[in-house]
Amino acid sequence: MTNTELGIERWQHNIMNNYGTPAIVLERGQGARVWDVDGREYIDFLAGIAVNILGHAHPAIIEAVTKQLSTLGHVSNFAAHKPGLELAERLISLVGKPGKVFFCNSGAEVNETAIKISRMTGKSHIASLEHSFHGRTMGALTLTGQPKKYEPFRPLLPDVTFSEPNDIEGLRAAITPKTSALWLEPIQGEGGVLPLTREFMQASRQFCTDNSALLVVDEVQTGIARTGTWFAYEHSDIEPDVLLLAKGLGGGIPIGACIALGEYGDLLGPSSHGATFGGNPVASAAALAVLRVVEEDNLMARALEIEAAFRAGLENAPGVIEVRGEGAMIGVKIAGDYAPAVEKRARELGLIINAPNTEIIRLVPPLVVTDEDLRVGIERLVQALGDCAQS
Ligand SMILES: Cc1ncc(COP(=O)(O)O)c(C=O)c1O
Repeated sequence: MTNTELGIERWQHNIMNNYGTPAIVLERGQGARVWDVDGREYIDFLAGIAVNILGHAHPAIIEAVTKQLSTLGHVSNFAAHKPGLELAERLISLVGKPGKVFFCNSGAEVNETAIKISRMTGKSHIASLEHSFHGRTMGALTLTGQPKKYEPFRPLLPDVTFSEPNDIEGLRAAITPKTSALWLEPIQGEGGVLPLTREFMQASRQFCTDNSALLVVDEVQTGIARTGTWFAYEHSDIEPDVLLLAKGLGGGIPIGACIALGEYGDLLGPSSHGATFGGNPVASAAALAVLRVVEEDNLMARALEIEAAFRAGLENAPGVIEVRGEGAMIGVKIAGDYAPAVEKRARELGLIINAPNTEIIRLVPPLVVTDEDLRVGIERLVQALGDCAQS
């Protein structure tokens, strides 16, 4: 029995099957490479699903976390602490508008926080988009436009409706004076790396303003330099009322930030919400390190170089009908429903990718991926595409 087989057997005995059985058991990582328990090496174009912006074992995160843990690791939310204060100020300065931050641990939690903020407007209707993904907790799940994910868990939150992404007329009809908020991801990640158009984003802003509804922009996956700007909404020249961040913010240390801008930052008062671990000193220190390295190493520009490499390498690859997305968040649409087979074949060839649906391959590598890893990874993907298109 290999170490991988043994690991998978242990997994099957002891871990809930909500993800399905994993195909690999990983042991260590460095940059954009990981190794499994049998010593096989992979190039990682998934990065913990758009989390490991600085790759694996980045010295800046290791140093920040180690230093903070040996100084002050965790305190309750009854005390403020320097890394949390600094991180909140830094995030607000990146958004460039006054606002207030709530720290938590995950993407689902930032969405739950924003749901509570939206309820504080005194209205309850929430408009969301088909194919969207906002998390697995009951509120975030209700806003997720994927019936397969929410149907088994009814009853859900009341008063949530869905319209199609990029359908401006559908959106116009969906948002009324009774709407408390519109939820959107600038690029729908789990829904298949589907970018919302600039026109749709601008119409979203306008309809929300016209109806006194909050525009909640879920950048859990697109945020923190992944699309070539700090936040993906910047590409459309709009401003959100509430901005949701998680995944890449901590570079692998769990942290989420719900940033409510202007007056909306004051909607949640004492005892209205909380999270024991939210933005603790260690998680905040990790996030500060991520933000510093993104800036110092110019990783926003790097995201655009990654996009250019993917487009050049994949647009004419076997079976590819579209390469879409922005920066280091790319979806490859193939001419058939064999994306899971490509994912499997790529893994055999030493490349980790994933298929959010049967026709799309998602590429969200670390922004620190080297030119060499990018080249080899693309080569392996092209081979996997060719092998699967032929068979
Ligand atoms: C846009 C978006 N929102 C929310 C979530 C949920 O994040 P988490 O799994 O950290 O709860 C995800 C996760 O993929 C996401 O992509």
